[in-house]
Amino acid sequence: MPRVVFLHPEGNSGDVPPNISLLEAAERLGVPLPHDCGGNASCSSCRVYVLVGGEHLSEIEFDEQDLLDREAMTEPYYRLGCQARILGDVMVQIPEQKWGDPSVEKPSSEVMEGRSG
Ligand code: FES
Repeated sequence: MPRVVFLHPEGNSGDVPPNISLLEAAERLGVPLPHDCGGNASCSSCRVYVLVGGEHLSEIEFDEQDLLDREAMTEPYYRLGCQARILGDVMVQIPEQKWGDPSVEKPSSEVMEGRSG
């Protein structure tokens, strides 16, 4: 089973069944990943930064790419947790803005330096 790591003050990691979404994995592991639209690719509250293992996520489909484009999240490390399905090991970071600090919303540089996918 794929292993997923969520970096967050209330983060967790664990093995999950393949082909479930990052949002479903977060819920299984007790990680508080917002999902204001209920997983319908229309709010972007579930966005995450993919730090490792981007190649182990499902391809971006039209609805996800459309929302990412509209929200100006064009960097390749952005994915929607409700749309990206887990196919292999992956590490993601929940943006700092969701931790209660709206002043910063970027992946931590220390983690990004070690990014390999
Ligand atoms: S939960 Fe709204 S876009 Fe993912």
